Amino acid sequence: MKILVTGAAGFIGSNFVYYYLSRYPERTIIGLDNLSYAGNLENLSLLSPDQKARFLFEKADITDSVLIKKIFSKYPVDGIINFAAETHVDRSIHDPQVFLKTNILGTNVLLEEAKNIWHTKSGVWKEGKKFLQVSTDEVYGTLGPAGYFTETTPLDPHSPYSASKASADLVVKAYHDTYGMPVNITRCSNNYGPWQFPEKLIPLLIHNALLHKEIPVYGDGKQIRDWLYVEDHCRAIDLVYESGKNGEIYNIGGNNERENIVIVKKIISLLHEMTGDPRIDESLINHVKDRLGHDRRYAIDASKIKRDLHWEHTVPFDEGIARTVQWYLDHREWMSNVISGEYTQFYAKNYMNR
Ligand code: NAD
Ligand code: DAU
Repeated sequence: MKILVTGAAGFIGSNFVYYYLSRYPERTIIGLDNLSYAGNLENLSLLSPDQKARFLFEKADITDSVLIKKIFSKYPVDGIINFAAETHVDRSIHDPQVFLKTNILGTNVLLEEAKNIWHTKSGVWKEGKKFLQVSTDEVYGTLGPAGYFTETTPLDPHSPYSASKASADLVVKAYHDTYGMPVNITRCSNNYGPWQFPEKLIPLLIHNALLHKEIPVYGDGKQIRDWLYVEDHCRAIDLVYESGKNGEIYNIGGNNERENIVIVKKIISLLHEMTGDPRIDESLINHVKDRLGHDRRYAIDASKIKRDLHWEHTVPFDEGIARTVQWYLDHREWMSNVISGEYTQFYAKNYMNR
């Protein structure tokens, strides 16, 4: 069984590769990534020799239909899990176009090429194929102080990023409704854990705190996100891929709402304790200009995946965040390679001329 995992060199994609290859010792992943600024093959450097042998990497852009067609004819692709995306909300505010291109058109290219190989001339879909679109809770917009996003909450995205993800979800739905393509869509809340690019709040603040640099908190810092340890997300995706009902959407979340400022203070205190560095304290916090159109609160109702697929998050926040902070302390070289740009050489050094 071979699945194509796009965005495999990114944060969640790489965590998924570790999770999947150790859970299924007989399976292979075709990992695809265009190694954009967020794609880092060093994220996969801890694969065991056996896992490495079952990880076939293709450097490719999901918007390049010629290359995607070639890859689909090179391997028997049984299913696709589409993590590949432009993912940072702030970047989408400054430069929306690449978000629309990758997230919408790229998803469409994957769907179309998958349809070409999975849909037989007689109009029947080959057995056991599936397209899983990894989406986000941001497609639902923002909440007031009460209530939760369910799978039937109307789409109401606000940023160019979330608008592009909502659009992609609709294109996936269209392939299901029009052509009968077997699909699932997952919508998860904020992930944290190893290998996250340090433009996102948690790794950024760890990086800055260790260097005694300012920690930028947007506006009053009272925006709320619902944090989930990345491995719990990977397990949910695996479950939806294996057992999700055709055409269904599944919300995924940790029932773990926190204000940003609370997260920031918690991590400062953990770093202070773990490093013994007296200069890491709350004086590093700097309230800066708020993000444009900043969504105030996200909170996921994950009762459908719990009820239908028996998924539960397993890592309590206090444990997951301590583990995460320790991980970044133990992988300072990874972080400095990212910051220096050295990581962009990893493909040339380790994957070319093999
Ligand atoms: P990431 O930015 O760390 O990784 C994205 C990966 O996609 C990178 O490796 C990048 O190189 C690759 N990529 C970008 N454009 C590409 C293209 N045109 N062709 C091929 N590859 C391309 O992001 P992430 O946090 O790992 O997110 C993965 C997916 O999960 C995204 O679809 C995102 O919308 C979704 N998601 C993320 C979160 C979160 O909290 N991080 C939560 C819910 C959903
Ligand atoms: O909810 C799921 C989404 O979570 C994913 O779909 C996105 O791909 C992922 O990037 C993430 O989006 P956020 O915008 O919530 O994540 P980010 O880490 O950028 O920001 C988290 C919160 O912290 C948000 O309210 C903005 C705030 N923030 C962020 C940064 C980078 C700050 O206050 N200061 C910062 O420097």
